Amino acid sequence: MRVGVLTGGGDCPGLNAVIRAVVRKGERVYGDEFVGFADGWRGVIEDRTLTLNVERCRGILPRGGTILGTSRTNPYKVEGGVERAHRTLESERVEALVAIGGEDTLGVANRLSEEGVRVVGVPKTIDNDLSATEVTFGFHTAVQIATDAIDRLHTTAESHDRVIVCEVMGRHAGWIATYAGIAGGAAEILIPEEPFDIDEVSESLRRRHEKGRFASIVVVAEGATPKEGTLALTSGEVDQFGHVRLGGIGNVVAEEIEKRTGFESRVTILGHVQRGGTPTAFDRVLATRFGIGAIDAVHDGAFGHMVALRAAEIIRVPLAEAVAELKTVDRRLVHEVSEVFFS
Ligand code: F6P
Repeated sequence: MRVGVLTGGGDCPGLNAVIRAVVRKGERVYGDEFVGFADGWRGVIEDRTLTLNVERCRGILPRGGTILGTSRTNPYKVEGGVERAHRTLESERVEALVAIGGEDTLGVANRLSEEGVRVVGVPKTIDNDLSATEVTFGFHTAVQIATDAIDRLHTTAESHDRVIVCEVMGRHAGWIATYAGIAGGAAEILIPEEPFDIDEVSESLRRRHEKGRFASIVVVAEGATPKEGTLALTSGEVDQFGHVRLGGIGNVVAEEIEKRTGFESRVTILGHVQRGGTPTAFDRVLATRFGIGAIDAVHDGAFGHMVALRAAEIIRVPLAEAVAELKTVDRRLVHEVSEVFFS
């Protein structure tokens, strides 16, 4: 079978491991031939392809990023984009497509599948906010990077008696902030799921410092928002999927904490460091299993489905279900820990 592969949305450690597994099993077990599309849906619209075979995949397992390139292009927002995508798939004689991406990329995959494209999805995002799968690859790596950073911030914060605000990624969901905050022993974790009151945050830091702690780490997800009317924020550019470019809430939080408490404060924005570099062993294994699951799904004719992890098994869920709702942090997870450690 001639199978197209693309990676869309923000890159993520483990993408290459998925590609490698799809191609390895496809070529060696099923006798498939592959077409790599460059830069996500943009490559499909513009008919830009890359060589993709077992040979090309050698050595890519530990490499971050994606050998296919990626973009946030949405064919439904580009003039004639969908028609051009259909034309490319026809002219490239693509019989099945493996789309590796997050809610946006898979949302497009779902719509194309409804229009007859034979597509199988693979969930990807460091944000871990896809509800159909218990975990996405890339998340574990991002959490590890953020936790390592927080460990380092502790020693410098303690040496100077400072509050350090560490901003991590997480647009709609605070999974990275929650996991890295708990693993790194943060004093406060601010996430999009629960608007924060900067007065309460400052007060709790003050109480903590009264008890003899003179340094605190505050982890804030980039998408965290203040309770209405408590703090003004500026917003940035919007992409083709309607997402505002985030980054910078950490600065505001650090400034306001310092103003309210008098504690010297600093901020570290981890940004794209969380997305770059080699995937953890966990993510390599999950990505490899997803890749194998995806090419098996192609050969079982399970189009319009996405592979997912549930109870340690790779299963298939309809794409429509996979993109229907975001998976947000269960507050019980934070409260359970905060009761014991954050007061
Ligand atoms: O969607 C994953 C993500 O890493 C978000 O956490 C973040 O807001 C966004 O991508 C950043 O995207 P970009 O690399 O396009 O600035």
